[in-house]
Amino acid sequence: MFNEIDLSQIDLTAAAPAEEPERQYYFMALARTRTEELKKELSRPLTAHIETFGCQMNFKDSEKLQGILEEMGYTLIDTEEADFVIYNTCTVRENANLRVYGRLGYLHSLKKKNPQMMIALCGCMMQEPQVVEKLKTSYSFVDLIFGTHNIYKLPELVSHALEVRGEKRMIIDIWKDTDQIVEDLPSERKYFFKSGVNIMFGCNNFCSYCIVPYVRGRERSREPEAILKEIRSLAADGVVEVMLLGQNVNSYGKTLKNPITFAQLLKEVEKIDGIERIRFMTSHPKDLSDELIQVMAKSRKICHHLHLPLQSGSSRVLKEMNRRYDKEKYLSLVEKIREKIDDISLTTDIIVGFPGETEEDFQETLDVVRKAQYDTAFTFIYSKRSGTPAAAMEDQVPQEVVKDRFDRLLALVQEIGRERSSRFLNTVQEVLVEEKQSSQKGYVTGRMMQNLLVHFPGEESLVGKTVRVKLKECKGFYYIGEQE
Ligand code: SAH
Ligand code: SF4
Ligand code: F3S
Repeated sequence: MFNEIDLSQIDLTAAAPAEEPERQYYFMALARTRTEELKKELSRPLTAHIETFGCQMNFKDSEKLQGILEEMGYTLIDTEEADFVIYNTCTVRENANLRVYGRLGYLHSLKKKNPQMMIALCGCMMQEPQVVEKLKTSYSFVDLIFGTHNIYKLPELVSHALEVRGEKRMIIDIWKDTDQIVEDLPSERKYFFKSGVNIMFGCNNFCSYCIVPYVRGRERSREPEAILKEIRSLAADGVVEVMLLGQNVNSYGKTLKNPITFAQLLKEVEKIDGIERIRFMTSHPKDLSDELIQVMAKSRKICHHLHLPLQSGSSRVLKEMNRRYDKEKYLSLVEKIREKIDDISLTTDIIVGFPGETEEDFQETLDVVRKAQYDTAFTFIYSKRSGTPAAAMEDQVPQEVVKDRFDRLLALVQEIGRERSSRFLNTVQEVLVEEKQSSQKGYVTGRMMQNLLVHFPGEESLVGKTVRVKLKECKGFYYIGEQE
């Protein structure tokens, strides 16, 4: 991919191909010429660091950014003391934003020490106009800002940023939305044996508390052929587990020219040799089909784990949240799933303190938690996101009431989680080894189909392999085992 280009002779965009991804490969080569020169000047490598906030989507995007950076000649390192730092941000709750602002001050101090340093911000937070305004006025040391719809344009943006480096100019490129999906760009994996795979982008559900549809745009599914081609090449490269990613995988394929269901896609993925485990995230209860349950129950590869966000157990609150299911529908879905797949792990997300939530509503949530018997539940305090319908609702719940409910919910979730996870004690399970244990020498950590973690004595060479492990002790949220 590496071409010599004399930068002084060229207008950056004039010679660039108009089509993607060819255009970005052109800019990758261009940026690489520049970074090679810089490396010679400095007599050292040029380093880059990506800090990722938020969900699996963002982590996947960061792997793409990393692949591109490496192609452009950067060496990725683990610290922010680098020549190029990217923060890939999240804005789902206020806390996420505060963390980014908090760390920008630290980045500024690093930039003062290293005149080569470039700082880029991208991700969901950048899709909010008030955030970009604030950055322009109070964080002018940032070099580059881009959003969620144009991460594939990183080579082009970096080529420009390298040109104007040192001129105190901020490059800003934010798109409101896009219907484009650019395939075939480089990507770097964190783990050699497992990988996330985007199957769709954006969200059309507009849950009334949630900012994601505003910052990630409308729902778009990737063509099944593109997904299967990517998974085949991952399998050829040693990947044994894939996690299919989307904000609501159950509505995958509905908008394609040749519509296909999520369950049909899963059946195709199942056929790919080398892939041993298939996971997916996230399932919206309103669209979970009987077809999916059947396909899961029959499959040898689809993991027996379902993340099924509840958000609230109160039908009244669920209506206000625009979730389009009620307590009864949710519980009957859980029953149906458990009937067909009896060893399934169910996990969920729950929000406490949605505007107008009463103690009675909250009791309904506790009731569902008791009945659904989650292995794990991620519990969140409601965070007001400006621009969403819920932010304008009256009756925001006082903080001390929310905190008290949150503590009670967490205690129940943990109690049930502990009981649930011990159900596999003294059985032998297939465990995919993920990493060497850092806290316990001579031990490795692996994951069961049901997403539970197992620690057992073993060599690092086991990483990426599936082994049979006898579960001897349950430590609450993980097991201690011994290889059979
Ligand atoms: N698409 C996924 C959720 C993505 S956001 C789904 O529909 O399940 C991940 C989780 O963040 C949500 O499930 C929700 O529990 C939580 N969340 C989203 N907006 C929030 C807000 N304003 N306040 C608190 N938690 C929120
Ligand atoms: Fe947000 Fe709802 Fe979309 Fe999930 S489905 S991302 S909670 S709007
Ligand atoms: Fe956050 Fe964006 Fe994911 S807002 S939760 S990183 S889609």
